[in-house]
Amino acid sequence: MSILKIARMGHPVLRRVADPVADPTAPDVAQLVRDMIETLEDIGGVGLAAPQVHVSRRVIIFKVPEARTTDIEGDAPLPLTALINPTIEPVGDALNLGWEGCLSIPGLRGAVPRYTTIRYRGFAPDGSVVEREAVGFHARVVQHEFDHLNGVLYPERMNDLSLLAFLEEGQKHPIDLAAYARGEVE
Ligand code: NI
Repeated sequence: MSILKIARMGHPVLRRVADPVADPTAPDVAQLVRDMIETLEDIGGVGLAAPQVHVSRRVIIFKVPEARTTDIEGDAPLPLTALINPTIEPVGDALNLGWEGCLSIPGLRGAVPRYTTIRYRGFAPDGSVVEREAVGFHARVVQHEFDHLNGVLYPERMNDLSLLAFLEEGQKHPIDLAAYARGEVE
């Protein structure tokens, strides 16, 4: 087990389309997943994609802590999930705005529109198929991590860069995104 170094925005590995994994049950994939979990636990994030640890392969891990669930119906905590060669598709075209940070962009957060409901599919490290419908924060974290596999970082998904902020400032000067989306916040 090892704690891996995180690539930061600007490193080319974060802009590359990651390679599919030929065999999700291969020992080196299991090792990569274990190291990614140890790295995420050490840093304390909610998700990590292999390119963020300088490995350009289609592997992501994510979880939904109770504290991050939204009031969107069906959003619920989720234990840590590892997904290999994931695919996602939106269910409906509803979007919602929510805060995101990224271990590759330390100290910042931004409000990002994401599909409210998605369906995703992929392989667990034991080779079994994982297929789920996700809403709210669960759908958000999967879309964020999936984007990393295609070389996309969350600021590229933002439609209002005035909502990109340092974490500390955001905490000092909170913005109610629901009110903002209704046009009630300047
Ligand atoms: Ni990220």
